[in-house]
Amino acid sequence: MPDLLITGCAQLLTLSGSVPRRGAALHELGLIRDGALLIRNDRIAAVGTRRRIESLRAARRAQKMDLRGRVVLPGFVDSHTHLVFPASRAAEYEQRIAGATYEEIARRGGGIRSTVRQLRRASPKILKERALADLREFAAHGTTTIEAKTGYGLDWKSELKVLHLLRELHQEQPLDIAATFLGAHVIPPEFRNRPASYIALLTQRWTPAIAMSGLAEFCDVFCDRGAFTLAQSRAILQAGRACGLVPRIHADQIVRTGAARLAIEIHAASADHLEQIAAGDIRALGLSNVVCTLLPGCSFHLGLASYAPARRLIAAGAIVALATDFNPGTSPTLSMTMILSLACTQMRMSPAEAIAAATINPAYSLRQHERTGSLEVGKYADLAAFDVADYREIPYYFGVNLCSLTMKRGAVVYSKNL
Ligand code: NIG
Ligand code: FE
Repeated sequence: MPDLLITGCAQLLTLSGSVPRRGAALHELGLIRDGALLIRNDRIAAVGTRRRIESLRAARRAQKMDLRGRVVLPGFVDSHTHLVFPASRAAEYEQRIAGATYEEIARRGGGIRSTVRQLRRASPKILKERALADLREFAAHGTTTIEAKTGYGLDWKSELKVLHLLRELHQEQPLDIAATFLGAHVIPPEFRNRPASYIALLTQRWTPAIAMSGLAEFCDVFCDRGAFTLAQSRAILQAGRACGLVPRIHADQIVRTGAARLAIEIHAASADHLEQIAAGDIRALGLSNVVCTLLPGCSFHLGLASYAPARRLIAAGAIVALATDFNPGTSPTLSMTMILSLACTQMRMSPAEAIAAATINPAYSLRQHERTGSLEVGKYADLAAFDVADYREIPYYFGVNLCSLTMKRGAVVYSKNL
């Protein structure tokens, strides 16, 4: 295969530099004006100004793709998704608009449990078709790597059905998928009156078996009112950690439970949501290596006024990341650029901070920062080009998809108007 020269990038955001990004480093984009990249097989072989790259001998022999003034950045790394689900919950959306809350709907047996009922019945074939279509949309919006959780099966057979599906999807389509076992999403209906038995099953049987199978790399818990308590969450994540699964955690979304502190205590890769954290939590997170994954799509979709305290986390030195939380209940979007718009407008992150939080920092939280998340020699050619002249226009033009090229490991996985 000949080398590929990608040139004519009005702005090439390399995101080279410190990993992970904190504080002032969060808005360093490693921006090259009039930039170009040389790609060999699946990797970046050279990156720099157009003048320098085009003068390389290898560039003269390469196949050339001129982006004619577009903005190029690392493909987005979406480090929190619930990729596999059988159907939307649009009826609940309408109920919430009419005044019901997320928790009220959940208490009536809706919410996560309604998706669980449907997923258990759904055939792997239908789930796969739906997930494949969604993965094509992720790619069409500039995302090249995602994390994906189980948690809508909650019985052994259905959790395994989703884990096997995630592995197949990872192997059969271009985007990388990092799998997370979220057996602790809610207490399944058949254990409603005996949660301790479910925790025992999860910690003593399922978690070790899944870790042994190699089907998941991470474990996760929804630690919140109506889901798992802090003590239960600790036991579940410790069990995961003990058999080699790296903990992530849904923390302090609905109420402050102390889950962010637990994330620090157990050295979780990531504490996600954080809408309700307190001042002391912010200070502690700022001093830790836990990635604070903010999911503004949830507050937006649930119509809530409060968002996670992004500015205070950044000021405290926390490693901030952004993700879609793509799921049918609280954030049915797979558009990272929509998330960037929300992060900028609602959480007052700067466009540069939001881009670092959507690329290199989530790559770090997935432990993939040595191969993706920035455009540097030796890393995968995972990139996205946008039909804008200035990177700030990516969050600025909200609700429209301006991605015109997505490349994963050097292969074009999406293109439009090129
Ligand atoms: O991240 N909070 C728990 N899990 C999802 C919601 C899942 C659902 O409602 O189906 C979340 O917001
Ligand atoms: Fe989630």
